[in-house]
Parts: sequence; structure tokens; C-alpha cells
Amino acid sequence: METSLNTSLLLILAIVSATTWYALDYFYVPKQLPNEPPLVGHHIPYIGHIIGLLRHGTRYYQIISANCNLPIYTLKMLNMKAYVVTSPALVSAVNRNSKNIAFNPFIAKLGKRTTGHDEATSQIVQHNLNGENGPGYVIQLHDDTVASLAPGKSLENMTQAMLKQVSPYLDALANDAEVNLFEWTRNMVTMCSTRAVYGPNNPFNRDRTLITSFWEYDHDLNLLIADIAPSILAPKGYRARNKLARAFQEYFENYDPIRSQSSAMTQARYTNATRQGITPLNQARLEVGTLIGILANTIPSIFYLLVHIYHDPALISDIRKELASQGLLSTPEEIAQNPKLLSMPESCPLLHSTWQELLRVHALGISARLVLEDVMLDDRFLLQKGMIVQMPMAVMHSDSTAWGEDVTEFQPRRFLKQKNSSNTYKKNLTAYRPFGGGASLCPGRHFVTLETMALAACMVSRFDLSPVKGQWTIPRQQQESFATNVFPPAKDIRVKVTLRENP
Ligand code: HEM
Repeated sequence: METSLNTSLLLILAIVSATTWYALDYFYVPKQLPNEPPLVGHHIPYIGHIIGLLRHGTRYYQIISANCNLPIYTLKMLNMKAYVVTSPALVSAVNRNSKNIAFNPFIAKLGKRTTGHDEATSQIVQHNLNGENGPGYVIQLHDDTVASLAPGKSLENMTQAMLKQVSPYLDALANDAEVNLFEWTRNMVTMCSTRAVYGPNNPFNRDRTLITSFWEYDHDLNLLIADIAPSILAPKGYRARNKLARAFQEYFENYDPIRSQSSAMTQARYTNATRQGITPLNQARLEVGTLIGILANTIPSIFYLLVHIYHDPALISDIRKELASQGLLSTPEEIAQNPKLLSMPESCPLLHSTWQELLRVHALGISARLVLEDVMLDDRFLLQKGMIVQMPMAVMHSDSTAWGEDVTEFQPRRFLKQKNSSNTYKKNLTAYRPFGGGASLCPGRHFVTLETMALAACMVSRFDLSPVKGQWTIPRQQQESFATNVFPPAKDIRVKVTLRENP
């Protein structure tokens, strides 16, 4: 009797599972059509690739791409398909289709989960996202941000404002025999960058514990974006986000664009948000998202740049010579006043090439887009409306056909060499994606390039650094969230600080 009951139960369970399976497949996952990019399956349907991504982070794309060796392929994840583009030529085709394969709707979809702003703000953000009826909040925000961070007076002011904060940190470092390099870089850059962006009333100036709060938020970002009971599943990140938002709410409640001494970027963003009726609390929540742009990639990048430079005695010596020839082997104040500050990428080609190579090797994120209408990409591949396009940097940055056989090596002079052979250089530029591309190319790229080069110049001018234990090694990166591109080190490096004899 009992055996037959068990068998019946198993049979019912099997029928229910099969029906659910069929329903999921039929109703939720759009069918694979003949022209779509080839499907790369997984032996665990629906969630196999999600498990892979959670396990390996964005490196998962490198593993799959190496196995299938396709210029574009489809991954099924739950009821969603992701089209993964690995060929630079197809990435350019995505960029050319920015109206139908769009960045803003993708970001807006995740925006509310990232920042926690309210429904009314979400309506303002979602309205006219892709410029269907002239400029909306997001389009205006984009245009203002691009204009305020473009090479010119505002960019110079912002970089100078950042440099003016640096000396006290260097002075303190001169008195420290030893320091944890990532932790030190994180504190210094957070304070100096946010002061440059927000002016003297910068919330981080008023409460330095916000530095820890920002990194707790960054650490829990994936769980916050998943948005399943975030206060329970990601309590630290959730609390940190609220604390940051409250601090920025106070900032915006007392904000005066003229007297704030804040950057042109903050002035423009405040004016646009206020004109649209966004409350100070919700401006503050949106600003917490902007902090990811300002800090989360920048700080690991500066840390790794310093490690690579100090790790290579010939490189640091050549970089010091190059800086000295431009009057940039100097103090933060003198570097800020140097007329060549804005043209550092041109006047210091070796340091710039090292920075570019740093991003090639260490920028491992994904550019993502939402398909708004069915598109035939490059007249060959059908991309279905509602699906996601992903362009993993790590795959393109490690492609030996684009970068040559030494692709796995850190070659600080790579971008110098390429400039001399025009064909390869052009080809490589399409495979070079640390700042994304097309209409949404990162507007902060000029600022972060100047900021990083100038900070590296300040450091090599004044200090020698060496690891307290053993030789320099390049620490492995640990991915914190899918929203960032340059991940922090898994382990900090404790370094001995020595003042240079002939600065
Ligand atoms: C090493 C540092 C940085 C890296 C690697 C980086 C990378 C990126 C990437 C990949 C995107 C998306 C582009 C796309 O998918 O096409 C982006 C967008 C953006 N970044 Fe950056 N970024 C950095 C620093 C900054 C800084 C310092 C700021 C601000 C001062 C900033 C502000 C932004 C903004 C506002 C967007 C959104 C652009 C839009 O609305 O179209 N970023 N960044």
C-alpha cells in the first residue's frame, strides 16, 4: 500500500515538474530563432550560466569564449537571453545601433535597485529615456556630464581641486614607516576626489566613516541589485546605502551651486534634477550611484598603477625622467599649476602608455545594453527585442589576434609601440574597451586619466616604496560587483615608505 502511494506521489511530482519545465520553456524563454547568435548551452538549464557567473565573475565569459571561439553567442539565463559579443567588429556594429541597442534603458532598469530611489523619481528617470520625445532627465544628465568633464577649464579646475588636497596625505605618509597600500590609496583618493567633485561641504569631509560605508555598499551591490529582501540578505550594504543617502540629502538641502565651490559636473546635475522636481533625498540616492562612477573603478586602478610602476625599476626610472623633462617630477601644488597638466597624456607618453596597459590588463567588466527592437546586427545576427547584449572587456583585452602573442604580459610600452605601427594600433583600439564605447563612452575618462597620472607623478616624485615582505607581486583581483570594471585586490600589500634622497 505504502509503496504504491510513494510511486503515485513520484509520478505526480514528475508530471508537475515536466509541465512546469515545459511551461517555463514555452512561455518565458523566447525561442531560439535560426538567425540568432548560436546558443551555448549548459548541462544545468536556466541557471547553469548564472551559477558560472556567480562562481567565476566576469572571467566566466573568458572561459566560455575560449571554449566556443565565436564572435557572438547566446546564453540562456532564467527567462532571459544574453547575446555575448566578443568580436571588436561586432562591438562597433552594436555602437552604431545605439538607438535600438541602448545603454540608458538598461541602466534605468537597474537604477532603482542600485540606488533605492522612490517611485516618483523612477518615473522621472524612465520618462523619455532614449530621447523618443526630445531630451528627458537622463539625456540632459548625460549631455551635462559629458560637457562638464570634457577637456577644458572645468576639467582643469576639477583636477587642480583634487591635487590641492593631496599634500597632507603625502606628508602623513612621509612619517609612516609602513602602510597598507590599497587601504591608504582608498582613503586618500576618496577624500581628494570627492572634495574635487563636491567642494568643501563634501559629505566625506564631515564624516570620514562614509569611506567604509561606500565600500560596504560596493561590496553588497550584487545582492542589492538582485533586490530580494535586501535589508535581510545584504544588511551591511543596505544600511551603508541609507547612511550615504542621508549624508548627501543634507548636502543637497544646503546646496548653493554658486557658493558650493563644487565641480561643474555637480552643479549641472543638481540643476537638472531640481528642475525635474527630484527631492533632495532622491537626488542624494541617485548621487550614491554616481559615487560608483567616481570611486569604484578609480581607486583599484590607481593602486594597480602604483604597484606596476614600483614593481619595475627600469620603468620607474624612465617615468621619472619623462616627468622631470616636463617639470612634473614635483609637488602636488606645482603639478596643479603646471601648464602641461591637461596635456599630460601627450607630454608623458610612457606614463600614459603604462596607464592604458593597466586598463587593458585590469579592466575586466562588461558593457551591457538592452535590445529595444528586433535588430539584424551586421546584417547577420538577429537580436530579439527585450534581450540583453553583453560585451565583456576581459575577452577583448585578452584576444591574441588583437594584441599579439604577449597578450598575457603587462607591457607598459605596448601603446607606445602600437602608435608607431598604425595598422595594428587602429585594430587594437576597437578591442580596447575599459571605458565602454559608442554613445555611452565613459565621460569620466579624461578626469580619471589626469587624476591617476598626476597622483602617480606625486608619488614617484617623493617616495620609494617596497613591500615589507619579499618581492613585489601583482595581487589577484577580487570581483566585488557586476557594476564595476576594475576590481580591487584580493589582498592588500604592506609597503615600506622611503623618502627619496634627490626628489
Ligand atoms: C578607471 C576608471 C573608470 C572606468 C574603468 C570607467 C568605465 C566606465 C564604463 C565601462 C562605462 C559604461 C560605458 C559603456 O558601457 O559604454 C562608464 C560610464 C560612466 N562613467 Fe565611468 N569609468 C571610470 C571612471 C569614471 C569617473 C572618474 C567618472 C566621473 C567623474 C565616471 C563617470 C561615468 C558616468 C557618469 C557614466 C555613465 C555614462 C552615460 O550616462 O552615458 N567614470 N564608465
